[in-house]
Amino acid sequence: MTSDHFLTLTDFSPETLGRLVTRSAELKDMLARGERHQPLLGKTLAMIFQLNSTRTRVAFEVGMHQLGGHALFLSPNDTQLGRGEPVEDTAQVLSEMVDIVMIRTLSHDDVERFAGASSIPVINGMTSRFHPCQLLADVQTFQEFRGPIEGATVAFIGDGYNMCNSYIKAAAQFGFQLRIATPPTHQPDATLLESTNNATWMESPRDAVDGVDLVVTDVWSSMGHEGEVASRRSDFDGYQVNQALLDGASKDALFMHCLPAHRGEEISDDLFEDPRSVAWVEAGNRLHSQKALLEFLLG
Ligand code: CP
Repeated sequence: MTSDHFLTLTDFSPETLGRLVTRSAELKDMLARGERHQPLLGKTLAMIFQLNSTRTRVAFEVGMHQLGGHALFLSPNDTQLGRGEPVEDTAQVLSEMVDIVMIRTLSHDDVERFAGASSIPVINGMTSRFHPCQLLADVQTFQEFRGPIEGATVAFIGDGYNMCNSYIKAAAQFGFQLRIATPPTHQPDATLLESTNNATWMESPRDAVDGVDLVVTDVWSSMGHEGEVASRRSDFDGYQVNQALLDGASKDALFMHCLPAHRGEEISDDLFEDPRSVAWVEAGNRLHSQKALLEFLLG
C-alpha cells in the first residue's frame, strides 16, 4: 500500500492533515467569492458505493465537478463487483481507466485489499471501522467557529463504532483530548483506545461532557446494524444528547452530528435548532474538505 491512499487518518502525518483542513477553508472562501478553480480538468474519480450515501456522494460528485473533473457513480447492482468480481481485479482495471477511487463499503479489509492492488489513490468513503473524510470536515468546522482544535476537549457520546474510532485517531493526530461515553457493551476498539493517551472511555455521558468544547454523537444503529434497532434503543437508553446534557459542557461548546440523524434516539427532537449545533455547516464542509483531499491526492 502506498501513502497516497487515505484509508484512515493515520495514513497522513499531522502536518498534512492540518494543511488539508487549512486548504479546505481556503477552497470554501474561494467558492464563496465565485473564483473558478479547476486543477483537475480531465481527471476522473470512480465512486464505489456499496452502502447508501447522501453527503459523501454529493460532496465528491459536486467537488470533482467544481475542480474541473468528472465523477463516476458505481453501484454494486450495476457493476461486476456485485456479481463477485474480486476487489483486486476491479482495482487493477479501474487503475487503467480513472485517476482516483473512493469506496464506501462495510468491510475495511476489502478497502485495504483494493488499495493494495491499486496503482492510483484510494479514498475510504466509510467502512465499519473508519470514516476519515467526515473527520476532516468536523475538524474544519470546529476551527471555523472556535479556532485551533489542538488542546481542546471533545466528548463523543453513543456508539463506539466507526465515527468513534475515527475520533480516537483524530484526537491523536490533531492533538485534542477525547472523552468517550458509551454503554459498556458498545465500547470502541480497545486496541485503538490503547494506542493513544488522548482518548479516555467512561460510562457516564454527564462525566464525559463536563466542561468540554465540543460534543459529538452518531446514530445508535449504523448501516450494518439494521437487525438490532430495537435492542440498541434499549442498550443506549440514557445516552441521548439533548439540551440538558449539552448544558454540562463549556458555555461556548459546539454540537456536531455527521448525519443522518434519528431524532428522539441519539439526539432530542429539538437539538438541531439549538444555537450550539453546527451540524448543517459541518455537512456543508464535507464538500470543501473532500475537494481539498482530491486536490492533494491528484496534485
Ligand atoms: N455523514 C455521512 O457520511 O453522510 P452520508 O452517509 O449521507 O454520506
